[in-house]
Amino acid sequence: MALEKATGLDKKLQDRLLENGEIPKHIAIIMDGNGRWAKRRGLPRIAGHHEGVNSVRDIVEACGQLGVKFLTLYAFSTENWKRPKDEVSMLMRLLLKALRDERDRLHQNEVRLRAIGDIAALPQDVQDELLDAIEMMRHNNGLTLILALSYSGRWDLLNAMKRMHDEIKQGALLKEEISEQLVSSYLSTKEFPDPDLLIRTSGEYRISNFLLWQLAYSELVISEDFWPSFRRKHLYSAIADFQKRERRFGMVSEQIRKTPRAGSVYVERFLKSVAKL
Ligand code: FPP
Repeated sequence: MALEKATGLDKKLQDRLLENGEIPKHIAIIMDGNGRWAKRRGLPRIAGHHEGVNSVRDIVEACGQLGVKFLTLYAFSTENWKRPKDEVSMLMRLLLKALRDERDRLHQNEVRLRAIGDIAALPQDVQDELLDAIEMMRHNNGLTLILALSYSGRWDLLNAMKRMHDEIKQGALLKEEISEQLVSSYLSTKEFPDPDLLIRTSGEYRISNFLLWQLAYSELVISEDFWPSFRRKHLYSAIADFQKRERRFGMVSEQIRKTPRAGSVYVERFLKSVAKL
């Protein structure tokens, strides 16, 4: 099985990103603005979610081609259960359809699928399809695509705290053993590194109960585009923006040894080329 390769200007832009700096190992995305995208076009909200699936397909493919190792998509939050019943049910049908339609293509592209969140809260047919697809792609070694479903950062932290409490009570865990690494190992993301880059679409400046612990040192890029309009060229712009940042993790510039940062001239030139895609 082989990864579908980029061509033409798309390939050139990808090569430039690869030459000019570090590609984030883990990108997390808050896919926002489906409803507003639809409303602007006089369409029902679900039409925005439908078009959002096309954005998911494009972004997953581009991330795979760029060698991004992990991509986490906030597809359904714990709070999303409070939406009107009809919308929740349509979103679940759409998720099921997307899993059915995309699984072979994802598998062909060597994607390894994973899920975080309260999966048991999803309708049984969605759970079955999801677990089946995860199993099918278990041995792939391309991009790891992590779907956050019925997920929230506080849900994740509460679960971790409860488990730690139980283990302390049973004598299996000592208070002295609790470290940042240990807390991370109790979270649903324990197998994945923390995100390097968080992208949120639709111009909102909020984390919305996403990966609260894991985003401590992530770079944030807010895109003004609604998720259904967010395609690979927007992803490339976000990565170029990431490449000019200096991640100091609380230290000073001189202490950081890393690939040189992309200069602002490069970023400006790059953004002009991206606009042509
Ligand atoms: C936020 O837009 C989007 C969602 C709650 C759902 C995201 C789901 C998809 C993109 C489709 C299925 C996903 C996968 C992974 C196949 P919103 O409804 O909050 O928009 P608004 O803020 O404009 O109302």
